[in-house]
Amino acid sequence: MQLSTKHLLGIKDLTREDISLILSTATQFKEVLQRSVKKVPSLRDVTIVNLFYENSTRTRISFELAEKRLGADTINFSASASSVTKGETLLDTVNNILSMKVDMVVLRHSASGAPHFLAKHIPAAIINAGDGINEHPTQALLDALSIQEKLGSLEGKKIVLVGDIMHSRVALSNIYLLNKMGAEVMVAGPPTLIPKYIKEALNVKVEYDIKKALAWCDVANVLRIQLERQNQVLFSSLREYNLAFGISKKLLDSLKKEIVIMHPGPINRGVEIDSDVADCNQSIILQQVENGVAVRMAALYLLAGNKTNG
Ligand code: CP
Repeated sequence: MQLSTKHLLGIKDLTREDISLILSTATQFKEVLQRSVKKVPSLRDVTIVNLFYENSTRTRISFELAEKRLGADTINFSASASSVTKGETLLDTVNNILSMKVDMVVLRHSASGAPHFLAKHIPAAIINAGDGINEHPTQALLDALSIQEKLGSLEGKKIVLVGDIMHSRVALSNIYLLNKMGAEVMVAGPPTLIPKYIKEALNVKVEYDIKKALAWCDVANVLRIQLERQNQVLFSSLREYNLAFGISKKLLDSLKKEIVIMHPGPINRGVEIDSDVADCNQSIILQQVENGVAVRMAALYLLAGNKTNG
């Protein structure tokens, strides 16, 4: 089976079959990652550049590990340590790198649409590793794999995305994916951090009362407040945000059921999530990170074998 697309720019462009294929391939790669020799030579003749114009810990390391586990040659690029600081454009930078016989590009950029722009101008396959406030497709895929492992399937499961929905590429990719896979999706948080027409535009429930949202869901995916993307004051203080919308142990214990706690990271402990929740038995935050390697192996493997698709 093949993906219907040459690039992985966003979950919006994927079919339900594409998503199922990536998740089932990731499950097979997870099995490889349990072995003493955690490598397969599937991408032995492929060279991949990881182009990071924005900081990252999880995404960058897991792409690099995924590439190494597949036997690819890997180049890591940080904009801050490159000729970007001398004024070189994104397209010039990428064309120069591709002229050195690089086959695939993994791109993180603060500008929404940067990977979509590149895809129109270069021949190489592109994976979006997070573009501004638009999408973070591999994060949504690893979140989906983590939910599937914990609850058996996505179909009919109730997932609430909590917090800064307005500025979150993780939220948008999760909403697209969960809707396509038949889950029920709610967004919860302060009205100033939830886009006005999201209910109609993206087919999600909206809840401003965090306790009601948690009582409704099977899974709460808690999001970081993206202060670096906010150019106006959208809530009074981090302390007050924590009191009104932070996930505390007391709040969890007040529910009449046990829900699954997720977070894409990085965590701001004591703001959107308290330490005793992030580290409790209901939290699968580190399983999400573990699944990131297998999901990125699957995306790289499937796209590398898909050079002919438009
Ligand atoms: N979840 C996520 O994208 O984390 P990083 O910014 O550390 O890659």
